[in-house]
Amino acid sequence: MEKRIYLCLAHMSGKEQAFIQEAFDTNWVVPLGPNVNGFEEDLKRFVGQQKEVVALSSGTAAIHLALIACGVQAGDEVICQSFTFCASANPVSYLGATPVFIDSEPDSWNMDPALLEQAILDRKDKTGRYPKAIIPVALYGMPYRIEEIMAVAERYGIPVIEDAAEGMGSRWKEQVLGTFGEYGVLSFNGNKMITTSGGGALICKDTESKQRIMWLATQAREAYPYYQHEAIGYNYRLSNICAGIGRGQMTILDEHIAHHKHIAQLYRDAFAGIDGITYHDAPSVDFDANFWLSTILIDENVRIKDENLAYAEAIQGAVGGAAGVVHTSDRIHTDCEPNGNVEALRIQLDKAGIESRPLWKPMHLQPVFKNCPAYTNGTAEAMFRKGLCLPSGPMVTDEDVAYIVQQINNAIL
Ligand SMILES: Cc1ncc(COP(=O)(O)O)c(C=O)c1O
Repeated sequence: MEKRIYLCLAHMSGKEQAFIQEAFDTNWVVPLGPNVNGFEEDLKRFVGQQKEVVALSSGTAAIHLALIACGVQAGDEVICQSFTFCASANPVSYLGATPVFIDSEPDSWNMDPALLEQAILDRKDKTGRYPKAIIPVALYGMPYRIEEIMAVAERYGIPVIEDAAEGMGSRWKEQVLGTFGEYGVLSFNGNKMITTSGGGALICKDTESKQRIMWLATQAREAYPYYQHEAIGYNYRLSNICAGIGRGQMTILDEHIAHHKHIAQLYRDAFAGIDGITYHDAPSVDFDANFWLSTILIDENVRIKDENLAYAEAIQGAVGGAAGVVHTSDRIHTDCEPNGNVEALRIQLDKAGIESRPLWKPMHLQPVFKNCPAYTNGTAEAMFRKGLCLPSGPMVTDEDVAYIVQQINNAIL
């Protein structure tokens, strides 16, 4: 079978199975135990800053619990980054609260701090209350402008929940993301920097806040010999088996980060020589990205080969496409979609055995969030229309990158 190059496949250190075996041998096949404790210790050491860490069943669960711990309730508003995966905002809706979406600034592609402040003031004006939390996102591992975001948050006394699900090991001025705000979220889903097959963690500022998260994550059981419950809780702890995978993965996290950065460097060098393709790089050395996924912007004036070219050109006038833009036959614009170039290139790469994916579709453009307030400046939408994610994980080799770049070069007319 021909090799296929995927966006970000899981990669094992080889030590995972020993931790899992030990769990079976000692019958710790439950959502607590030595692997969970050991994994939390490893994570705590990694993030530093005297933080505490709670291992959970997913990054989404971590956001959910952080919101509850911040006091978010039905009827409240929570500021979310629009340019993200839905999991940053879904837990706001679980609570009956409303996400208020903020657009990105064009350098990091993450939450625009100036727009954030405008939105906070406008929400206060319109509803009489400040939003209950702010969730910036390290999109594709790129750090957000955390100092500016924290300054705004502190001005209005609003807690920050850092969504570093894609940004494990990314640093702002050498400090690990997830350790600046009230809470920090990590994800160990199968495609992330490390995996526990599925899992996540919440970085907490002290033991008191860790205890509260642990309590919420274990059905809010009170300290009685029998089962006493005085609040609604959740079953969100990580399994001791999955935590065994996590312990094995922690032995290789630094290598994973180094590899993602190495792949980023290969793309950076290669795309510097290709007109019309812009590699999304860190705005400055302060933004120490893990480059979870490498991403490119495709200039709308570049022409991409398309097998449906004749058809595409025929329909181009009809849909008012910009000059040089090729629309594929099956992807005519409806509301906001990646432009024809992105889709044509994605299909070309797919045929060459390469998985690629458009950037996250901004949340303020998602039908499910259509009634939520949004403060936009056009950045996320513009990036979504012309951006593509490229394979970047530990399984991607130097030869793979050379092949991917060659295929992109070949696809440009
Ligand atoms: C930005 C972002 N936030 C949150 C999550 C949720 O993490 P999980 O899949 O572990 O629930 C993900 C990934 O899936 C993500 O990409």
